[in-house]
Amino acid sequence: MSYASWAPPSSPQQGVNLETFILEGMLETEGATGTFTALLNQICLATKLITSRVRRAGLSDLLGYTGETNVQGEQVQKLDIIANDLLINTLRRQGHCSALASEELAEPVVFPHASGGYLVVTDPLDGSSNIDVDISIGTIFGVLRHDLKTGPPTTQSFLQKGRDLVAAGYVIYGSSTVLVLTTGNGVHGFTWDPSVGEFFLSHNNIRTPSRGNTYSINEGNTSRWSPGVKAWNEYIKSVDPEKNLPYGARYVGSMVADAHRTLLRGGMFAYPADTKSPGGKLRLLYEANPFAMIFEAAGGKATNGNGTNILDIKPTELHMRVPLVLGSTEDVDTFESFTKNE
Ligand code: AHG
Repeated sequence: MSYASWAPPSSPQQGVNLETFILEGMLETEGATGTFTALLNQICLATKLITSRVRRAGLSDLLGYTGETNVQGEQVQKLDIIANDLLINTLRRQGHCSALASEELAEPVVFPHASGGYLVVTDPLDGSSNIDVDISIGTIFGVLRHDLKTGPPTTQSFLQKGRDLVAAGYVIYGSSTVLVLTTGNGVHGFTWDPSVGEFFLSHNNIRTPSRGNTYSINEGNTSRWSPGVKAWNEYIKSVDPEKNLPYGARYVGSMVADAHRTLLRGGMFAYPADTKSPGGKLRLLYEANPFAMIFEAAGGKATNGNGTNILDIKPTELHMRVPLVLGSTEDVDTFESFTKNE
């Protein structure tokens, strides 16, 4: 092609940044007051600040442990605390978020002067053990409603089913930084352009394939698995070209990275219950639920491996754990066909 015949690529998506996308969604929603839009923009601002810290962590003495352990008994990384503080300090402003619950905090932080009836749940920096070795990590968030007429939010206010989420998203700090968001109606991805300092729409209306060809699980836990999970694992590695078996194995150890790949390419990710973590390892409110909402909105599925949809589980405590299987519907169903009746 000669230079003379070249024309700049034109796309209706070009130049649509995250704020514009969110605002246009609000303009199409009857009766919207702008509070929810403003809250999403505040979350977006916090993730921009976290992106900037993550991207230069190795140069700014931000890597390594603080020496503390969090409410989960896990060692806390400096970036965990930085990401947590950035979310709190951003969301306490403008009054849209009335309380925030985080993996890093034993109890929610309540913002007493807020007038917006929204709660935010978050894992500020998922995959902490990968921070120091430059492997993808992420931020996970979900938004719930709270009726301020019933009084200020308490821990109890957060114990809502995933079905009650009004928005969920995550940011993956990978080879590029991508923010994926849903308000229940479609899932959209926005890629960070560092030269402009904005997230731009790059993945419009993400759909998870009904079946993939990879599985993602910590196979080091094999000896701790139930017979059903072991049987599934044997099956998925068996040779049967007609069923497209064996599947390939992919496991990063950051849920955001494993789930992001699964969302885009299909397949499945699982962290089942095992003898070390009988209730599962991942947290329902701020890890499993946001991803379950995203996968469902993208045509995928998330269950506890026992036939229960993650979004239908009523939390009994803030940091409750849950076994999790998510991904392509057919691949989740295959997993459950081995584990459902255990
Ligand atoms: P954390 O944020 O505390 O590092 O937890 C990471 C989570 C999740 O992101 C990942 O899928 C899982 O733990 C990995 O656990 P294993 O190391 O046990 O495989």
